[in-house]
Formats: sequence, structure tokens, C-alpha cells
Amino acid sequence: MPNVPFVDLKTQGLQLLPQYQAALASIVERAAYIMGPEMREFEAAFAEFCGCPHAVGVSSGTDALVLAYRALGIGPGDEVILPANTFMATAEAVSHAGGTPVVVDCLPQTANIDPAAIDGAVTERTKAVVPVHLFGQPADMDTITAVAERHGLVVIEDACQAHGATHKGRPVGSLGSVAAFSFYPGKNLGALGDGGAVTTADAELAERVRVLRNHGEKTKSNHTIVGYCNRLDNLQSAFLRIKLQHLPEWNRARRSAAKRYDDLLAGVAGVTAFQERPDVEAVYHLYVVQVDDRDAVKVKLAEAGVDTGIHYPLPVHLQPAYAHLGYTRGDFPVAEHLAERILSLPMFPEITSGQIEYVVEQLAKAVTP
Ligand SMILES: Cc1ncc(COP(=O)(O)O)c(C=O)c1O
Repeated sequence: MPNVPFVDLKTQGLQLLPQYQAALASIVERAAYIMGPEMREFEAAFAEFCGCPHAVGVSSGTDALVLAYRALGIGPGDEVILPANTFMATAEAVSHAGGTPVVVDCLPQTANIDPAAIDGAVTERTKAVVPVHLFGQPADMDTITAVAERHGLVVIEDACQAHGATHKGRPVGSLGSVAAFSFYPGKNLGALGDGGAVTTADAELAERVRVLRNHGEKTKSNHTIVGYCNRLDNLQSAFLRIKLQHLPEWNRARRSAAKRYDDLLAGVAGVTAFQERPDVEAVYHLYVVQVDDRDAVKVKLAEAGVDTGIHYPLPVHLQPAYAHLGYTRGDFPVAEHLAERILSLPMFPEITSGQIEYVVEQLAKAVTP
């Protein structure tokens, strides 16, 4: 029986191993591990990739969000609007900055934040809105930007799943005031450990993030604010620099795998794919479908050797950690409905046509009553 993994990090890892070893040797020979040339080179390359003047390397996507919120001055008493269907970190980081996450529903066609829901969630305490480019597809940035401008809100992109995706030809990371990226190993651009970046066109904001990530140290031993130890280390920067060169080709491979899934699934009753908006190029960090009786389908696929995921089974507003915010089931019906039906299929640049055909064949069997 074939086995189709959910992601395959080993193939890329082994292909690039000689380059990683050379980078490791160079760093060990110089014994330069933190805040060195590798970090600065990667930051410059990633900024260029995002079409954005500044990229600041940090220790994770979560920390990128926390530092972005902090650098914007978001703190106690401030509210930040974000979608119900996202990874917990989008909201968690607001809490770490001292603010309050305010949840809104998402769109059934894309699972991205519903721009029409933002107006109703704005109060005099609202400071920002966070479109999450979920599954690798940019959110409806034109409408979100217009709503944000009307209310004087900052737009913070959570681009943790969308390195290289574009909206009207412009890359994510350059579409709002500031953006957060994750380099968690399974991401489209993943480190060999944790990592993240903040991108922005605002030089002062970038400088505040740089100071915050390094203990609030403005100049040597001069700590102007209480900061964090949230740097991207040289080793991860060097690995990321090597991988960044391949990212356009890997994203193209993901897009053609998604197209193959779309074509094959169009003929399968009982499976609904998400739609790519006409004004974007998604990078398919995840390829997600909707099915009835999702948990049973997931088990049947596992029995057929197909690994799948769920992103995410419990929306943010129903997470026990946020019980104190007072949300209840029924508050965000689209996100709640999706949470019961979504299933992420195997997706990685090296996935073969044969593997995709096998997944679709098994999925078609699994959804047949
Ligand atoms: C949408 C989203 N936001 C934030 C994060 C947090 O990134 P990290 O795991 O690097 O802290 C992730 C990654 O899992 C994510 O998918």
C-alpha cells in the first residue's frame, strides 16, 4: 500500500545538506553565532523577496507578531481584530503584548477573514486588524484596507503561511503596515528549527522591532525599553538564505500540485475545495477541502496510508485559553461550520502526480457512504 506523507521535509533536507554543512562549517570556524553577517544577508534577501524595504529576523512567527504589536504600541486596553479560523498564535501574540483579541468570522469560499464583519467589531479601543493569509492565500486586502482606513486602524498581515503569495502582483509582507512571517520547519520557507521575520516599509517601526528583539538595546549596553531575547540566529539565517533561492520554484510546484488536486476533485461528489480569488496567486502552504463526516474520512484515509491534517479543529474563540473573553458556540457560524468539515490533504513541493491521484482516489472512496 502506498504511503503519502502530509509533508516531506526529508527530501529537501538531504538535497541541501552539503550546502548546510558548508554554512555550518563557516559559522563554527568564525564562532559567530548571533547577529552576524548571515542574519543581515538573509534579512536583505528576504526584504527584497517581499518587495519591502525592511525585514527583521526574529525567533519565530509568534515572536514576529508580538514584536510587531509591541512596536506599534499595542498594549493594555487596546483591541485587535482577527479571524476565528487561524492558528492560536495570531491571538496569543496580542495577549502577550497586553492587548485583547477581538474575533470575527471568516468567508466560506476562502476561510479568510470576512471584511464585512470588521465594521461591527470596531470600538473606540480598536487599534488594528490582522488579515491572516490562511493556507497561503492572501486575504481580500483591498476591502480590508478600505475598512481599516475608514476607522484609522493599522493593518498587520499574518503572512506566516504565505511566503511568496501575491495580491494583484504585490507580494504579501508589503500589503499592510507591517507583516509577520514564520519559518517553522514545515512552512513554505522553513528553517531547521524555529525562526520568523517582521517586514515593513516603515523605517522607524523596523528599528523599534530591531531594538525590541535584542533586549531593548539601542546601542551597546544602553537598554532604552524592556525588550526580548528574540533574535534569528546566524545558523538559521544561513540555512534560510540557501532555501530562499529555491522558494519560487517550490511555490510553483505547490501551485501545480494544487491545480492537479482541483482538476481531479472537480469530478468527486462530496468534496468541496476552497476557491482561489482571481486577484491573487496563492502559494498553497496547505491544500484544504471540505467533507461531511470529516473525522471518519480522516481515519479512512489514514488506513489507506494517506496522512492528513486539520487547520484548525477548534476556532480561536472556542479555545479554553480564551474562555474569559466570553465567546460561545454560535458566535461565528462560518468558522465553526468549517472547523467540523475541513481536511488538509498532503501538500509539499515534491509531491508526485501519482501521489495526488492516489490521495484523490482514496478520498473519493472515503466520502462514499
Ligand atoms: C497563521 C499563523 N500565525 C502564526 C504562526 C506562528 O508561527 P511560529 O510557529 O513560527 O511561532 C503560525 C505558525 O504555525 C501560523 O500558521
